[in-house]
Amino acid sequence: MAGRKRTEGKFYLTTPIYYVNDLPHIGHSYTTIVADIIARWQRQAGKDVYYLTGLDENSVNTVKGAAKYGYTDIQAYTDMMAAKWMAAWQALGIQYDGFIRTTETRHMEVVEKFFAAVYKNGDIYKGKYEGLYCENCEAFLVPADLADGKCALHKKEPKMLAEENYFFRLSKYQQQLLRHLEEHPDFVMPKERRNEVLSFVRSGLKDISISRPNIDWGIRLPADKSHVIWVWFDALINYISGAPDYWPADLHLMGKDIIRFHCVIWPCMLMAAGYELPKRVFAHGFFTIDGQKMSKTLGNVIDPVELAKKYPIDAIRYYLVREIPFGEDGDFSETMLKQRINGELVSDLGNLVYRVLTLAEKFDGSVEGKAELDAHLDIRKIDGHIERLEMNRALDAIWSFIRVTNRYINDKKPWKLSGPELSHVLYNLLESLRVCSILLYPFLPTTAESISAQLDLELGTFKDLKFGAFKGRIRKGRHLFEPMK
Ligand code: MSP
Repeated sequence: MAGRKRTEGKFYLTTPIYYVNDLPHIGHSYTTIVADIIARWQRQAGKDVYYLTGLDENSVNTVKGAAKYGYTDIQAYTDMMAAKWMAAWQALGIQYDGFIRTTETRHMEVVEKFFAAVYKNGDIYKGKYEGLYCENCEAFLVPADLADGKCALHKKEPKMLAEENYFFRLSKYQQQLLRHLEEHPDFVMPKERRNEVLSFVRSGLKDISISRPNIDWGIRLPADKSHVIWVWFDALINYISGAPDYWPADLHLMGKDIIRFHCVIWPCMLMAAGYELPKRVFAHGFFTIDGQKMSKTLGNVIDPVELAKKYPIDAIRYYLVREIPFGEDGDFSETMLKQRINGELVSDLGNLVYRVLTLAEKFDGSVEGKAELDAHLDIRKIDGHIERLEMNRALDAIWSFIRVTNRYINDKKPWKLSGPELSHVLYNLLESLRVCSILLYPFLPTTAESISAQLDLELGTFKDLKFGAFKGRIRKGRHLFEPMK
């Protein structure tokens, strides 16, 4: 039961589906924003992009959340929460192509089909399970997950559960997975995460319980209606149910907390059900807020919608990518955000655009010249960074070109020039801005559109990166960014 073959030129990427009972915070926004940048980059490159995000709704924590908010109708509670998530992504200008919720029929149907395929394959069996279960992880823990008897991630005491459960024969796929990992060095990125997964798989895979008895919320097991399917087994399948025609995914993006589900359980599930594996799983780091862990108790959870009221969305996007080397842990601080706005966005970029357009406005000839600034632009290098998910480096490389362009003004001193000499310098500056708008668009969409509008052009795509497309008219606008106090 393989999905339709992915034709050349497709690019399918996903974020995790977030737990619906939480509220979107800056951590979720980070993954979702970076995925948005990659999606826009691939669209600019002419790919048929499908960007999927969504919500994980079948967890017991959903039931608890509904009770907390006084909802007896759990579905109505998830609908109310889902609206909040969607509104947050809209406020942040996220352009996803699909949004999947695991309570949707289209999802449940695929889960049932998937389960049936694995069952038919003989990889699901009934057994007894006794072990420690963390309700926040929604998973049975192994000794490595514990610190002082508590779940190391959530610092909460796990529950001892002894249940009749249905098991997935994970152990059967250990060798096949190991071979896949060894033959595909880019399957799990970055390297630290790959090593972590490799050593986990080498240490031996045990079969896992994939059902929970006596729970009233979730997808019923087709083989035994007194059980529901374990929420992770259900949730991972969203990547197929959310975009069946685009499978296999080119990229699953997520935080490092859920790498094992995506790089161990998910590929084995796919092997058992007869699907192709995703091309790549990339796990970024976690961030703290002003050096502290983000937590409700500390009261430092950052609401992205509130943040977007205080700062331009483009500045938030820029900061998140530029500040934290993608893949590493990092820290979020508004002080640093303001510094980046005032330094790079106002001074380097904003002033450049303003200066060039002011010069161009005063010039009354037609802008003609020979391309010379483009010699400093290495598009292949930038594209290579994106390909390796070195998001901050890609942005750095674009920024070097912005700095070169700034230097070009200082060197050429166009305010002292006139006639063909001035025309030539302006030609290079305006073309440089035009090319910057195309390259910056994935990172700073509103800003890029504003630059190209000031050049009186439609925003171009990567086909338009060669100097020569500037039409010779401008419509100078306001400064791109206001300095922040
Ligand atoms: N529902 C599961 C995922 C199922 S995918 C088939 C889940 N949901 S979650 O709401 O807990 O989201 C976890 C993800 O949120 C992380 O993998 C990461 O993408 C993002 N982040 C949550 N907190 C974060 C930080 N503090 N820092 C960076 N990313 C964070 O797990």
